[in-house]
Amino acid sequence: MYKEIIQPILNKCDSETFHDLARESLHLAELTPITLKLLEFFADKHSRFVDKRLNVNLGGLELENPLIVGAGWDKKGRAVLGLWHLGFASVEVGSVLEYGQPGNTKPRLFMVSSGVAINWLAFNSPGMDIVSKNLDKYQNSNIPIGISLGLNKDVDHADAPRAYGTVAQRMYDYAGYFAINVSSPNTPGLRKLQDKEHTVHIIKSVNEAMDICGGRKPLFVKIAPDLSYQAIDELLEVAIQNKVTGIIASNTTINPDLKGKYGARWKNSPGGLSGDDQDYRRITTEIIAHIYKQAGDKLDIIGVGGINNAESALEKIKAGAKALQLVTAIRGEGPAVAGKINRGIADYLDREGITSIKEIVGIDSKS
Ligand SMILES: Cc1cc2nc3c(=O)[nH]c(=O)nc-3n(C[C@H](O)[C@H](O)[C@H](O)COP(=O)(O)O)c2cc1C
Repeated sequence: MYKEIIQPILNKCDSETFHDLARESLHLAELTPITLKLLEFFADKHSRFVDKRLNVNLGGLELENPLIVGAGWDKKGRAVLGLWHLGFASVEVGSVLEYGQPGNTKPRLFMVSSGVAINWLAFNSPGMDIVSKNLDKYQNSNIPIGISLGLNKDVDHADAPRAYGTVAQRMYDYAGYFAINVSSPNTPGLRKLQDKEHTVHIIKSVNEAMDICGGRKPLFVKIAPDLSYQAIDELLEVAIQNKVTGIIASNTTINPDLKGKYGARWKNSPGGLSGDDQDYRRITTEIIAHIYKQAGDKLDIIGVGGINNAESALEKIKAGAKALQLVTAIRGEGPAVAGKINRGIADYLDREGITSIKEIVGIDSKS
């Protein structure tokens, strides 16, 4: 029903307007247990899927299944419970910034093809104080929340470690894990912070912030798919040396050849591409495989990039990802996507006689 009826209508709306509407509808559904139950049935015609074989552990954080809503879908932290009812085990809220900023002028989010997006939002965020207030209501929910740490555009790079640490400190009580986002393409110069000499100071600052607040929580660094393997390896070294839990691979791509497949106007447009593009999916899976081979015994990998069904989810798990994130497929496939993927993975485990998803992490990357 979603693809036949709802999506064609949505395709006529501005993508960001639709997105805001979807998030606020979930927020409204959180009003009562009945509306949440109705949401489950409306979205997926099933109750929320639970299967112990899908449990994963990320640096000590237990997730009911491998699916996390990736950063960017719920930047304000308004729909965590609604998303959980759609079948996700966790939501990475943000990216959260020290103070509010509007981002680029609209329009800035485009569905360039079914299931494929290009966005240049550029960290539109209400800021950490408002996000933390929004998250107060989930404090007793037991839903593991990831906090994506971002950076205001006018912060000097020399001041970036302090800024990331400040957000981590403010958001500490809400975080099941933290993700340092140095890979969004839409804040000029941000990706430069992926250089090891910058990253090391940011990681140290976030670790110090956690120590001040009461102890370390799982910490991830999110990377761009446009990095060279040499740059990735340097970053892995820094991550391991500084006791980072793992890597989130990857953010959106600025690759002009990939963007250009959707028309000349996109080739050199600003923004990053995400979603159901087979080259993007392949590149992000290859990066996961590379990280797994280099450091799979020392770093956990959260795989992200073009996941939209059980097959693409399994591809990333077998390449080395312990957990997965998706963003664009929530629009491309609709609200049933998490339930469908979890049921599809469980069916696969049935067929193969596998007792836990943990058994297949990295099996395609073992030499
Ligand atoms: C509209 C939109 C906004 C995003 N905002 C953020 C963000 O604030 N922080 C971040 O780390 N990643 C952000 N991302 C990147 C996603 O988290 C994810 O890495 C990327 O979209 C690839 O996953 P997908 O193919 O499942 O969409 C955003 C992506 C989209 C489409």
